[in-house]
Amino acid sequence: MKSILITGGAGFIGSHTCLQLLQQDYFLYILDSYVNSSPKIAERLDKLLCQINQKLRDKFKFIEGDIRDESMIDGIFKCSINENRPIEGVIHFAGLKSVAESVSSPSLYWDVNVGGTIKLIRIMEKYSCRTIVFSSSATIYSENNRSPLSEDSEIKPYNPYGQTKANIENLLKDLYTSNDSCWRVINLRYFNPIGAHPSGLIGEEPRGKINNLFPYLNQVASGNIKELKIYGNDWPTIDGTGVRDYIHIMDLADAHCLALNYLIKEKKATLLSINIGTGRGTSVLQLLKTFESVNSCKIPFRFVDRRLGDIAISYASNDLASSILSWRPKRNLSNMCIDGWRWQKLNPYGYE
Ligand code: NAD
Ligand code: UFG
Repeated sequence: MKSILITGGAGFIGSHTCLQLLQQDYFLYILDSYVNSSPKIAERLDKLLCQINQKLRDKFKFIEGDIRDESMIDGIFKCSINENRPIEGVIHFAGLKSVAESVSSPSLYWDVNVGGTIKLIRIMEKYSCRTIVFSSSATIYSENNRSPLSEDSEIKPYNPYGQTKANIENLLKDLYTSNDSCWRVINLRYFNPIGAHPSGLIGEEPRGKINNLFPYLNQVASGNIKELKIYGNDWPTIDGTGVRDYIHIMDLADAHCLALNYLIKEKKATLLSINIGTGRGTSVLQLLKTFESVNSCKIPFRFVDRRLGDIAISYASNDLASSILSWRPKRNLSNMCIDGWRWQKLNPYGYE
C-alpha cells in the first residue's frame, strides 16, 4: 500500500478525492488547517467507508496544520517513515480560492498559495518525494482565448488568484527541468466543479460570502436567499447569460485517482498539464432550468449588471485527459443538480 499526503483534504474537492483514493491501495495523511472546511469531515468519511467496506476505515489520518509551517510538514514526513509507510506522493489542494478576496488581499493569496507550496516542495525535496498532483485552474487562461480551451491556449491570468496558480505551475516546471532530480508532476486545470457525493454525506460547504453560482442556487432553492442575481443577459452566448463547463465533483475526484496512479507508475521525469472539464458549455439559465426541472423547485431570479472580471464563455477541450488518463466524465448536468441539492437538503447548516 502506498502512502500519500493530501493537503487541503478536508475541503470540497479534497474530501471527495480522499473517499475515492481510500477505496484504492492508498494510505492517506490528510493535512488541513480547516480555514475553509470542517474537522467533522473525518466522521463523515468514516461513516461512508463503514458503509462501503469496514476494512477501509483505518486507512487515513487527519493532521491539523498550515502548509506554511515547514516544521509541521517535516513532522508528517518523519511520522510516515516511523510508521513504516513513507509518503511517496502528494496531492496538493490546500490554498485559498476566492477570486474577489484575492483582489482585495493579494499578499495573503501569494503567501498561502505560492509561499505554502514552496514550503511543501522544500520538505518534499528533503525526503526525496518528487511526485505531485497540483490543483490548478481554468482561470489561468487568457480572457482572449476561444473555447474549447486546450492546454496550449495562452496563459494570462487576469486576477491575483489566477496569478498564484500560474506561478505555482511555473515553479513545478522549473523543478521538472532541473537536471539532478526526477520530478513527476501533473497540473490538473479544473473547470467548474459542482454537485456532491450521491450519499449526501459530503459536499461543498461555502463559508462566508457566497460567490459561485451553484451554492447560490442551493441557497435560493432552500429559501434562505430570495432570488438569484444573474450577472448579465447580454453576453454573446446562446441566451445572453455566461457559459461555463460544470463538472460533477465525483468525476473530478476520479480524475485525481487516475492522475496519481499514472505518476506512481511512471519512472521518468514527467510534466503534464491537463484540463478537467466535460467539454460542454452550459449557460446560467440552462443550469437554472435543469436544477428546477430535476429537483421540482422554483428558482426566482433577476438580471443585474455583469460582474467585474467575468468572461462570456469558458469550457474545456478534454482530449488530453481522455488520451493520457483515459478519463471521461460519467455524470451529466442532471446528476450534478440532483446530488448537489440532496447534499443541501440533508445538511442545511453544512457539517455543523
Ligand atoms: P476548499 O476551500 O473547499 O478546499 C481547500 C482546503 O484547503 C480547505 O479545506 C482549507 O481549509 C484548506 N487550506 C486553505 N489554506 C490552507 C493552509 N494554509 N494550510 C492548510 N490547509 C489550508 O476548495 P476546493 O474547491 O476544494 O479547492 C481545492 C483546490 O482546488 C484549491 O487549491 C483551489 O484553488 C483549486 N480549484 C478549485 C476550483 C473550484 O471551483 N472549487 C476551481 C479550480 C481550482
Ligand atoms: N453567476 C451569476 N450569479 C451568481 C454567481 C455566478 O449569474 O450569483 C454567473 C457568473 O457570472 C458566471 C457563472 O455564473 O457566468 C459561473 O460563475 P461562478 O462564480 O460559479 O464561476 P466562475 O467560472 O466565475 O469561477 C469559478 C471559480 C474560480 C475558478 C473558475 C474556473 O470561482 O475560482 O471557476 O475553474 F477559477
